[in-house]
Amino acid sequence: LLGSINHLFLFTFTLLFMQTSSSSGGKILVFPLDGSHWVNMKVLIEELHSRGHQITVLRPSDSWYVEETSPFYTSITLSCPGKFEANFEKYLSRMLEIRLEKKPVSLWSKLWTHIQLERALIEQFSQFHREVGEVIIHMFEDANLMQSLHAAKYDLVLTDPGVGGGALLARKLQVPLVFNVRWTIQGEAHFLIAPSPLSYIPFTATELTDKMTFTQRVKNVLAYFFGRYTLTYITEPVYKPIVKRYFGPDVDYSTVFLDADIWLMRNDFIFEFPRPTMPNIVYMGGFQCKPSKALPADLEEFVQSSGDHGVVIMTLGTLVRNLPEEVSEEIAAAFAQLPQKVIWRYVGQRPANLGSNTLLVNWLPQNDLLGHPKTRAFVTHGGTNGVQEAIHHGVPVVGLPLFYDQADNLSRVRTKGAAVIVDIGMLDRHVFKEALMTVLYNSTYRGSMQMLSKLHKDQPMKPLNQAMFWLEYVIRHKGARHLQTQSHKMSWFVYHSVDVIAALSAAVLLSVFICISVMRLLYQKIFTGKKVKHE
Ligand SMILES: *[C@@H]1O[C@H](CO)[C@@H](O)[C@H](O)[C@H]1NC(C)=O
Ligand SMILES: *[C@@H]1O[C@H](CO)[C@@H](O)[C@H](O)[C@H]1NC(C)=O
Repeated sequence: LLGSINHLFLFTFTLLFMQTSSSSGGKILVFPLDGSHWVNMKVLIEELHSRGHQITVLRPSDSWYVEETSPFYTSITLSCPGKFEANFEKYLSRMLEIRLEKKPVSLWSKLWTHIQLERALIEQFSQFHREVGEVIIHMFEDANLMQSLHAAKYDLVLTDPGVGGGALLARKLQVPLVFNVRWTIQGEAHFLIAPSPLSYIPFTATELTDKMTFTQRVKNVLAYFFGRYTLTYITEPVYKPIVKRYFGPDVDYSTVFLDADIWLMRNDFIFEFPRPTMPNIVYMGGFQCKPSKALPADLEEFVQSSGDHGVVIMTLGTLVRNLPEEVSEEIAAAFAQLPQKVIWRYVGQRPANLGSNTLLVNWLPQNDLLGHPKTRAFVTHGGTNGVQEAIHHGVPVVGLPLFYDQADNLSRVRTKGAAVIVDIGMLDRHVFKEALMTVLYNSTYRGSMQMLSKLHKDQPMKPLNQAMFWLEYVIRHKGARHLQTQSHKMSWFVYHSVDVIAALSAAVLLSVFICISVMRLLYQKIFTGKKVKHE
């Protein structure tokens, strides 16, 4: 009897399990971008896991951020290194060096710094995509792996299109594709699929706004073409041969990486300037933001000791381990002059100028500190999480941008009146103190940030829930092809109706020509006819 009850139990259990897994749980394959982008991808993965989906993550053998074992996903480790960490360490220190070079203040030296940074960036990204290319080839050549991926019958591939692997994999497996995106290998996402008139949409990294003078518009157009050209120069030599090799010469290279069902954008219109968008673009800016929790007791005590002055928080993210000594000394000296308490995330030699009001820490609970009522200002390099969390909690920002699109991200917050930006190459204790004092004592900065915070929180659905809805929508409907426009499948002259305009112009010209000819003929007839009559 016991045996049959056991059987019955097992039977119902399996039935129940099968039911839940087929009705709510999907199978999701993730091809992530290693490094800080993984931190955000993990937020989506944890939420998907909590909703009963099964997640599998592909990682290279030497992955930097993506852990092999996790309670939230199973991983498949490719037997091939991605060399991501080494690449980062090499170029980040080089870029920091360029930024910090002492130079005369002139347009030319600014331009020179810019060119050097651009060169380092091109080198870094070329190297990076070459390594990614190797990983992809390795993956496609591994017949057993591909077989098992096919057999697993995934419901969708979720990827960060900053690497090309996810889009290629989805196409190979014939599975719907969702992007967690701001950048793809071909450029900023909006510019690739939504109409983007350069007259009022600043190209990313130009630090321009939606109100541009004539010269700024010239700069914008040049930056756009230069940006598109460099990215093509970097990525095409890597991905084009791969597409040709594994998908044949008939597959149109330019559309392969734009073929996602849904684009989950990591920004929104609190952050972005208003612009045209597309039905399959879903904005989830701030999806990583959470309510703050209580601080550890010692930190809380330190924060409370600041009294009415409050605290300033500073962190330059996980990537910058050491600032040069001159810079940290100047920062420490500026902090020492403030009546506020300061919590500074800093690894490296303790600066001699450090004031008694400044606490150095190896790590800080950024979100919990930003949500603390005593926090008055946030000094940040402008990474995604920093900017989004500052907006979420309404804390005004002093920006010290270092690499990539950080300067551009911060400039957007500055345009909205909620940040002051300091060029780290120009930083000394006076400049830095001035920036801090402005943000601390001019109430417009705090006011603007609180306004952005209110707007950010006033949405029909939380950004993370929005992302979940659309991911599950794609699982339910096996894609979202009906939301995809045809625009990216057209050649530029069809897209801009150049052929139609040419045909219509030709028709107009032709009819004008015919009219003129007929009139001339008639005129001649009448004229010559009259002449004939006269004679
Ligand atoms: C800039 O902001 C966008 C949108 O929030 C984000 O995707 C990107 O990662 C940010 N850049 C950096 C360097 O953090
Ligand atoms: C505060 O900052 C705003 C914006 O930069 C500026 O217009 C205003 O004059 C400043 N107020 C004071 C008192 O300095």
